Amino acid sequence: MPITVGILTISDRASSGEYEDHGGPALKVAAEKAGWNVHSEAIIPDDVTRIQETLRAFSAQGCGLILTTGGTGIAARDVTPEAIRAIMRVELPGFGEAMRMESLKITPNAILSRSLAAVVDQSLVIALPGKPSGAVECLGFVTGAIPHAVALAQRVPTSC
Ligand code: MTE
Repeated sequence: MPITVGILTISDRASSGEYEDHGGPALKVAAEKAGWNVHSEAIIPDDVTRIQETLRAFSAQGCGLILTTGGTGIAARDVTPEAIRAIMRVELPGFGEAMRMESLKITPNAILSRSLAAVVDQSLVIALPGKPSGAVECLGFVTGAIPHAVALAQRVPTSC
């Protein structure tokens, strides 16, 4: 069964139409290349309540994996990590560590991202940076662990 994916762009400017969303479409291409089924997509502002409501809605819609892009940095409106941590069951620190460690080989600015992964309801949520290339790069660094993590988040018995 392919993994069912939700893609959430978190950006005040993309959600208001000030600029076109490129991060969501870039993640959709990457997810489809991985053989996953993109079921849900949304573009919302940098707002804690909207982020939490959308994550929970995507999870209820059956998305075992939810990829977010944006709001992981240090700008005043960057609240993605806080929104996720307030509703998560557990955080998976290795995802953030791997994404930053590998990204630092590409750009020193990677250290500015508070990228993370966590289990929210029955879903694995991975919060990726807002820059489309950065989001796709970071997803690539953790893809190998995603099927097993999604299965565990959904409490499906697996081999280890
Ligand atoms: N990670 C990778 N792999 N490639 C990138 O270009 N950009 C960084 C960082 N992580 C980047 C990256 C930059 S410039 C910032 S400010 C932070 O992600 C946070 O981005 P965000 O606030 O848009 O989520």
